[in-house]
Amino acid sequence: LETGCLSIIVLGASGDLAKKKTFPALFNLYGKGFLQSDEVHIFGYARTKISDDELRDRIRGYLPQSKEDAEDVSKFLQLIKYVTGSYDSAEGFQALDKAITEQEISKNIREGLSRRLFYLALPPSVYPQVCKMIKSYCMNKSDLGGWTRIVVEKPFGKDLASAEELSSQIGELFDEPQIYRIDHYLGKELVQNLLVLRFANRLFLPLWNRDNIDNVQIVFREDFGTEGRGGYFDQYGIIRDIIQNHLLQVFCLVAMEKPVSLKPEHIRDEKVKVLQSVIPIKDEEVVIGQYEGYKDDPTVPDNSNTPTFATMILRIHNERWEGVPFILKAGKALNSRKAEIRVQFKDVPGDIFKCQKQGRNEFVIRLQPSEAMYMKLTVKQPGLEMSTAQSELDLSYTQRYQGVVIPEAYERLILDT
Ligand code: BG6
Repeated sequence: LETGCLSIIVLGASGDLAKKKTFPALFNLYGKGFLQSDEVHIFGYARTKISDDELRDRIRGYLPQSKEDAEDVSKFLQLIKYVTGSYDSAEGFQALDKAITEQEISKNIREGLSRRLFYLALPPSVYPQVCKMIKSYCMNKSDLGGWTRIVVEKPFGKDLASAEELSSQIGELFDEPQIYRIDHYLGKELVQNLLVLRFANRLFLPLWNRDNIDNVQIVFREDFGTEGRGGYFDQYGIIRDIIQNHLLQVFCLVAMEKPVSLKPEHIRDEKVKVLQSVIPIKDEEVVIGQYEGYKDDPTVPDNSNTPTFATMILRIHNERWEGVPFILKAGKALNSRKAEIRVQFKDVPGDIFKCQKQGRNEFVIRLQPSEAMYMKLTVKQPGLEMSTAQSELDLSYTQRYQGVVIPEAYERLILDT
């Protein structure tokens, strides 16, 4: 285990992502004892001119409010220092470096102990300039050893050309092992479970293919709209916000072949292979829409035609999946909040219960809310009569794992970085 001075720097500290996800995830890690050494420091950096305490007050609203947590919350907030500056100014980043270095020195830093993790809770348009600033002014001091890492998220560009450009701009400044491209859906408990489910259960191995599966649905719904994030959302739309990243990662884990091992490179190789086998999506297999009222959001232009809903069929041209549609669906401001994977099986051949049967086998993995997996089966209706009914083998996490707190997706990913 590494020890020594660790500085976590959240760039874009006053933004939505930082407040709602990054700081709460850091707090949860703190609560679990991960960041409690006096060698850990957290810095916020953004353009907004506010004091340390004003930033802390903004974050406080998104942390647990109960009495039992009060002491942890105030200790955690005291760890956070704030530096103001723009994303392309040398002075700002020099001030940030000074603040980090002061903490490192005050901890009487020894060799190998300057570790700096930069979390870019920022729009991708500023990634290149921010990376340049970090590289010029904020790297860990090489005479002290340690490391500098940067964490970036989607949307990573707008199309292939801009994604490649961004990659090469960042690649000129940092080596690959210093760059962490994260997708928070990969940190969700039941997404992490997919590899285990698929490859550690004899039951699924022979069934997971075109002979038995009729279709697979990967669905994301949210029961709220843009809520002031229209400025960001309207430039990208639901496909780039949810489908191209979160749902596609889930798709890969559901459809890929067994990796050689659990090594990241081996998993990556299988994901790439299955993606290469996806044939171009047909226009007639796509539906897009926009919810009514989207343009009432003052941060959305009045004439916007950005989709807030999309569904599309992915078809994989390989031996396992030929002919099986993978239906990806995502929407904001729908009637419920849910993310799930539904694997629908084919009908039983030569079915002798056909006249009374009510449905086919389905395996459902619910990512949120209330993590669960359940398998829909046809069983005999209890009683004297020989009639059938649909029932479920149900593994609901709240029942099976009572008292177990499931970590937030970001918590796991930040811990990994
Ligand atoms: C983000 C999107 O990546 O994921 C948001 O930008 C969306 O639009 C969010 O609301 C959903 O994440 P979760 O973990 O709440 O399902």
